[in-house]
Amino acid sequence: MSRIFITGSTDGLGLAAARTLIREGHEVVLHARSRERAAAIAETSAAALGLVIGDLASAEETCSIAEQVNAIGRMDAVIHNAGIYLERSRGETPEGHAKTLAVNTLAPYLLTAWITRPHRLIYLTSGMHRSGSSALDDIDWNKRPWSASQAYSESKLYIATLAAAIARHWPDVLSNAVDPGWVPTKMGGAGAPDDLEMGHLTQTWLATSEDDAATVSGGYWYHRQQREATAEVNDVGFQEALVERLVELTGIRLFGWHD
Ligand SMILES: NC(=O)c1ccc[n+]([C@@H]2O[C@H](COP(=O)([O-])OP(=O)(O)OC[C@H]3O[C@@H](n4cnc5c(N)ncnc54)[C@H](OP(=O)(O)O)[C@@H]3O)[C@@H](O)[C@H]2O)c1
Repeated sequence: MSRIFITGSTDGLGLAAARTLIREGHEVVLHARSRERAAAIAETSAAALGLVIGDLASAEETCSIAEQVNAIGRMDAVIHNAGIYLERSRGETPEGHAKTLAVNTLAPYLLTAWITRPHRLIYLTSGMHRSGSSALDDIDWNKRPWSASQAYSESKLYIATLAAAIARHWPDVLSNAVDPGWVPTKMGGAGAPDDLEMGHLTQTWLATSEDDAATVSGGYWYHRQQREATAEVNDVGFQEALVERLVELTGIRLFGWHD
C-alpha cells in the first residue's frame, strides 16, 4: 500500500486517479481549491486518508497546501495533476504572475520544494508542450501580447523539463512526466477523442507499481509507453536556464549546490 497526494483531485483526471488508487487499497490525500469544491467530493474524501485545501494560483496558499500535506505525513508519491488551460487573459496572481504559469508550473515547483520529498514524483504535461518556446526571457508574459494556447504549451514544456531536471538532480527519486492524451474532462471538453481510463492509469501505475517498467526516472509517458519529448526537455542547458528563471520568479531554490 502506498500513500499518494494528488493535486486537483476534485474533477477530471485527478479525481479518476484518486478513485482508482483508493479502490486499489492505497492511502490517498486529496486536494481541493476551496471548501466549496471539497464539498463536491464528499463521498470520495470519506474513503481517502485526507484532504487539503488551497488555491494553487497563490504562492501563500500553495505553501499552506504543502504544510497540510506534511502534517499528514510523508507521501510515497505525489501526482502534480492540477492544471488550467485557455485563460482569457494573463491574469494576475497575488504574487503578480500570469495565472497559467502560476498554476501549471510555479505551484508544482513550489510544492516539490516544500512537500517532504517522496520517492516518486509525477507531473502532468501535454502533447502541446511541443509548441512551447525555448526563449525564457518572458515566461511570465510581461512583454508579449497574451496567447492562451501558447501560454499553456509553454507551461507544459516547463513542467516536463522540470520533471527531467529533477530526475537528473535527485537520483534517489523517480520523477516522470505524463501526457494523458486529449481526454473528455472539464478541460478536454466532451468531444475529446482519447480514453479517460488510459488518461489516468499511467499516473496511478507510475505512482504505485513495482514493475521494472514503472520504476524508472526521467521518462515522458503516454498510455504507459515512453515517448520522445521535444528536444528541450532533456537539454541540460535548457533545464538549468529554466530552473534559474523559476528561482528568480519564486525566490525558492529547489536544488542545493550539491544536487
Ligand atoms: N483533459 C485533457 O485533454 C488534457 C490533455 C493534456 C494534459 N492534461 C493535463 O491533465 C491535468 C488534469 O486535467 P483535467 O483534464 O483533469 O482538468 P480538469 O477536469 O479541468 O481538472 C483540473 C483540476 O485541477 C484543479 N485546479 C485548477 N486550478 C486550480 C487552482 N488554482 N487551485 C487548485 N486546484 C485547481 C481543478 O479544480 P476545480 O475542480 O475546482 O476546477 C480540478 O480539480 C492538467 O494538468 C492538464 O493540463 C489534460
